[in-house]
Amino acid sequence: MNSAAAIPPPSAAGTRQSAHALWRRFVNPDYVKLLEAFDFGRRFTWAQGTRLRDDEGREYTDFLAGYGVHNVGHNHPRLVARLREALASGEPSMLNVDAPLAAGRLAERLNALTHPDLCRAAFASSGAEAVEIAIKAARAATRRPGLLACAGAYHGLTTGALALQQEPAHTRAFGPLLPGAEQVPFGDTAALEEACARLQPAAFFVEPVQGEGGIRAAPPGYLEAAGRICRAGGCLLVVDEIQTGLGRTGADFATDFDRVAPDILLVGKALSGGLVPVAAALMNARTWSRAFSGPERCHGCASTFAAGRLAMVAGLETLNVLQEEDLAARARAQGGWFLDRLQDLARRHPVIRSVRGCGLFLGIEFQPASGWLSKVVPRWARQQLFTQVVAAVLLRDHGLLTQACGRAPAVLRIEPPLVITRAEIDGFVAALDQVLAGYPSPGSAIAAAFRKTILKGDL
Ligand SMILES: Cc1ncc(COP(=O)(O)O)c(C=O)c1O
Repeated sequence: MNSAAAIPPPSAAGTRQSAHALWRRFVNPDYVKLLEAFDFGRRFTWAQGTRLRDDEGREYTDFLAGYGVHNVGHNHPRLVARLREALASGEPSMLNVDAPLAAGRLAERLNALTHPDLCRAAFASSGAEAVEIAIKAARAATRRPGLLACAGAYHGLTTGALALQQEPAHTRAFGPLLPGAEQVPFGDTAALEEACARLQPAAFFVEPVQGEGGIRAAPPGYLEAAGRICRAGGCLLVVDEIQTGLGRTGADFATDFDRVAPDILLVGKALSGGLVPVAAALMNARTWSRAFSGPERCHGCASTFAAGRLAMVAGLETLNVLQEEDLAARARAQGGWFLDRLQDLARRHPVIRSVRGCGLFLGIEFQPASGWLSKVVPRWARQQLFTQVVAAVLLRDHGLLTQACGRAPAVLRIEPPLVITRAEIDGFVAALDQVLAGYPSPGSAIAAAFRKTILKGDL
């Protein structure tokens, strides 16, 4: 069937219906179906700081920040002004035959902000691309093929990054992936030691706090021990701070909490200021020179867009804003306040299994459905329907934007822009209190989801 007729005419362009019709026909029909199933089908038309507005004039507060992109807040005026200025300057970009000054400056700033050893930056346009650079660098530097990562990890969706994850639902269709990749339980140093000795991998990839995996922080001392184990086994430690970096956890980098010097540290997401894609693999000189030195290999981590001028300007100005507004300290203070209130909520709502996190990287895990429900409701539905219903009602009735963790759908993730205020946090907690009063058990939300999706009723 030609679905052109379903697309509203140009006079209606700009409405959410026309956007969805175009997506259904030309972009990703199943994604739109998913958005609409739980009333997430909004067309946001304006954003500033923590606030969003949709095409019907309704306002929202963002407690998701594009999954950790908008640490400095949406459309930060300084960033917008700086990018406008950069565009107006007429300077060239993406010549790819020069060594742009802004890229050198951004690499210098990232070195100052992370660890003195991390003195080489390979820029990229996405987090997954930075992961690919790290895989290549580690293999070339160690002359070993194997890779080690953690169960529950998320490192992106390119084939190399997927090889580190090995979740059949997400990887099966795209295989065979890189051979020689294995996983160890997150936080288990004995398992890491055993796998390092057996597999002799090129690198161990780890997130200081697993985001998609359910906002799970590594136990204290884990990264430091991992560093020791990797060094002893001749394998590189790659710390993925793509989501945890740049203030999110209450420090510039979550690695700051542990005495660890990664061989490679990955940054992305928030470095963009939410406006121009930019990521980087920061590495020590030894790794760099083994992987990319020499006239042939010095192009080995290049990419056409990677050190583009607007990306570098966005990165530099984002770092200025983060430091001048002291957003890591703000995340620590607001996050502590938030966590206290969520813990109080957990004491009053038995449907909350646990709350956890650090800084403004928080998660609320809900109880799974039990009893007869666990026999008749499929596992995926038991795990994620409660979270989806809560997120949907928070959005619809309270204008609050959150989502479940991708690889741990029973966990509602809370990661607002770091400029969130106490009043906004209190508003969120009060709204969640009210929503949970309406859905006191996993079963009540599953029944509501059934009404909504099968019977086409209301939540
Ligand atoms: C820890 C981590 N690593 C890597 C990635 C992949 O980044 P990107 O989506 O920019 O490719 C993500 C994205 O969510 C992430 O959270």
